[in-house]
Amino acid sequence: MMTTATAPGKIILAGEHAVVYGRPAIAVPVWERVATATITTLPVGAGCLLVAPDIRRRIVLATAGNNPLAVVTRLTLAQLSAPDNPDWQIEVRSQLPIASGLGSGAALSTALVRAIYTHVGQTPDPAQVSALVYESERIYHGTPSGIDNTVIAYGMPVWFIKGQPPATFQPRQPLTLVIADSGIAAPTKETVGDVRQGWQHDPARYEAWFDEIGALVQAARQAIEQGDLPLLGDLFNRNQTLLAHLGVSSPHLDRLVAAACAAGALGAKLSGGGRGGNMIALIDPTHAQGVTEALQHAGARSVLVTTVR
Ligand code: MEV
Repeated sequence: MMTTATAPGKIILAGEHAVVYGRPAIAVPVWERVATATITTLPVGAGCLLVAPDIRRRIVLATAGNNPLAVVTRLTLAQLSAPDNPDWQIEVRSQLPIASGLGSGAALSTALVRAIYTHVGQTPDPAQVSALVYESERIYHGTPSGIDNTVIAYGMPVWFIKGQPPATFQPRQPLTLVIADSGIAAPTKETVGDVRQGWQHDPARYEAWFDEIGALVQAARQAIEQGDLPLLGDLFNRNQTLLAHLGVSSPHLDRLVAAACAAGALGAKLSGGGRGGNMIALIDPTHAQGVTEALQHAGARSVLVTTVR
């Protein structure tokens, strides 16, 4: 018997960092790049083997220790009251570059959890999948807000407030986004830590910025639900300014944001942890090629166009 499940990548549209302090954030799935998990039943006594050909890893579940994929596999098997070392080969693959800010780790874990549910004959419930994936995210990222596992497990745009059930929603008209990777690795753990230091040093100032971000995220949801893309673009730009105040932009990200806007984007901002990682530009689809080329010219390592429906 063979079971396959997939999960999308993700990108944060607005509200990163402030979301760690209880403000709302919006994230959307990126279905143009997916992670896949395939479970094959092995002969009796073989035990459970996790195989990740992309990174040339073979993990024997019984002896795997704290590997995030092994942890999420064990938790899922326990949740489903399935045997703790089933005779399965689980192969995971991903089109999402690792540590690119597109949620590669959460997407792999989500595909894995969904495949296990399906393989034992259960329907994966997004809330349960999200909670299980959160446990593996904690191994990668410390104490994340939970927005990444949520948007990937639901596979739809989400309105997210830490500790509350997420709300999914749909854009009135499709959003076309250009996502550019700055090519600079900047662990989210570090930028989150730096923002925390700034906040501890001057809480009033940071709380005021978080409030402004929270208000613009609220306005962004309305703009998305009403299909007001020029307004959404302005809100991206305002969010970028506030993220720069928080100290998580960088000269390279600023350059990419400026290049996208000069090439006709409706608005642009860094997305995710910042410092390096990704930026996003909201565009009219007719500008896809021009904005893509402008970003490549400004030094983006890779550029991806996604449509959010
Ligand atoms: C990272 O994708 C988003 C941050 O807000 C951190 C988090 O929410 O855990 C920077």
